[in-house]
Amino acid sequence: MARIIDGKAVSADVIEQVTRASAALEAETGARPGLAVVIVGDDPASHVYVSSKSRMAKQCGFKSVQHTLPEDTSQQELEALVASLNADPEIHGILVQLPLPTHLDSDAVIQSIRPDKDVDGLHVVNAGKLMTGDLDGGLISCTPAGAMLFVRQTHGPDLSGLNAVVIGRSNLFGKPMSALLLAANATVTTAHSRTKDLAGVCRNADILVAAVGRPQMVKASWVKPGATVIDVGINRIDAPERGEGKTRLVGDVAFDECAEVAATITPVPGGVGPMTIAMLMANTVIAAMRAHGLKPPSFG
Ligand code: GUN
Repeated sequence: MARIIDGKAVSADVIEQVTRASAALEAETGARPGLAVVIVGDDPASHVYVSSKSRMAKQCGFKSVQHTLPEDTSQQELEALVASLNADPEIHGILVQLPLPTHLDSDAVIQSIRPDKDVDGLHVVNAGKLMTGDLDGGLISCTPAGAMLFVRQTHGPDLSGLNAVVIGRSNLFGKPMSALLLAANATVTTAHSRTKDLAGVCRNADILVAAVGRPQMVKASWVKPGATVIDVGINRIDAPERGEGKTRLVGDVAFDECAEVAATITPVPGGVGPMTIAMLMANTVIAAMRAHGLKPPSFG
């Protein structure tokens, strides 16, 4: 049976470090890290995520501001809000919750955020710094940063000689995750829906990272014995065994059978999920310290 990574415990450690760094910043400069979270529309799942981000920011001692805009907000109104947050010296991090309503151009909004306040790490400047190996100069996308922390805790900072396979090639996760693994010297394959013999590719992986959005797609026969398996999927499926109309959350990995083969595995829920918010808080305190001319610590 594999070692199961406790994402809640690891994220609690990160939050503790962030809270300490935030207090140190305030003691030294009188300023608190400021995080602005922007949500447009009524998507209930997005509201749940955004509330927990705002709540965690307060818990870390940040100035936390939430802007809730109506569904029919125009591109111009949203970009005007981003411009005012860009100019606000008390705001160090800006997060626009995705997805936006379909009439809005998400990419234009994300690219209008000042790169040094882009705590989601989605601006092309931050994506470019990551791709060129400048890991200390920009801001790194939160979910891959959290998943990478698990990889470092398991294998150390140098992945020389290890094969890593990332299933998924999104800008939000797959591409930055592959770049982080490569920067740590792993030999990286970015697999996706057009990959031939996906199971065979995955069986080569010492580190297998799944981010496809298909419930329990990765089977035990895809996992190399002794591998580290990181599950980034969050899928809600019917759970009639819990009663009529009940559902439960599962990842992209068939957990029970893969845990028999892997050496280390993350659960869903309670694995990568809690890390995303923790790394968002870490990015915010990093941005705030840089804004005050201080060198931020590395978290994790
Ligand atoms: N929606 C789901 N995940 C994310 C994320 O990491 N950042 C933003 N901005 N929106 C999201």
